[in-house]
Amino acid sequence: MRLMLLGGPGAGKGTQANFLTAHYGIPQISTGDMLRAQVKAGTELGLTAKKVMDSGGLVSDEIIIAMVRERITHPDCQPGYLFDGFPRTIPQAEALSRAAIPLDAVIEIAVDDTEIIRRLSGRRVHLPSGRTYHIQFNPPRVAGKDDITGEDLVHRDDDHDTTVAQRLAVYHAQTAPLIAYYQQAATAGHNRYIRIAGVGAVTQIQRQILAELSTD
Ligand code: AP5
Repeated sequence: MRLMLLGGPGAGKGTQANFLTAHYGIPQISTGDMLRAQVKAGTELGLTAKKVMDSGGLVSDEIIIAMVRERITHPDCQPGYLFDGFPRTIPQAEALSRAAIPLDAVIEIAVDDTEIIRRLSGRRVHLPSGRTYHIQFNPPRVAGKDDITGEDLVHRDDDHDTTVAQRLAVYHAQTAPLIAYYQQAATAGHNRYIRIAGVGAVTQIQRQILAELSTD
């Protein structure tokens, strides 16, 4: 399974990625998580990326493409992979295609902006693992603590209202054009294109994605 999740900030990509990667035994390649790991490690790349992420913009295509090209060579990607938050621009998608890194299915999780704002204001994250919760819609067993490790959850720096508005604007301008790009690629037989309404219970959305993936 070589999958890509496409959708706005807070559409539920990370939430569904946790489930799908466990189900198919494939790694999650989240460029957002990879960048946050660099920020945490205090690398030069992390310092540059943090400024861009906190402003709601996108990190440069060259940095992202180099990171993914290196990650995809790891042996755990042999049985497949799931891209979460990548590609995010047309040049990133074209670089993927040029590098002959295939996608079996692109899964769009469609959620409107009002719902996204509600979700991100209540999201809490376990930074070391990328596991996400919502204080109301998907709460951890113990408030403020990760279910698996019991460590603290945080409200991401880029989940505050003004940054979310900028992330949404950037999504509509630079990432949403990938919808038409991958629909056309599907028509040409390069990948399947699956559109799921991302509103409703997390488990219901999981079932819909699995049902779509299991049809030919
Ligand atoms: P990244 O970390 O990829 O952020 P994002 O795409 O904005 O996505 P999020 O992680 O915010 O949301 P999600 O869709 O995973 O939703 P989640 O499952 O958490 O990127 C961060 C930044 O890094 C970017 O802004 C950019 O600067 C940079 N970057 C990353 N990749 C890049 C790239 N390729 N190129 C350039 N720059 C890049 O869910 C959200 C909340 O909703 C959670 O609280 C969850 O519990 C809840 N929820 C989930 N599903 C449901 C449901 N069905 N009902 C109710 N609540 C739900």
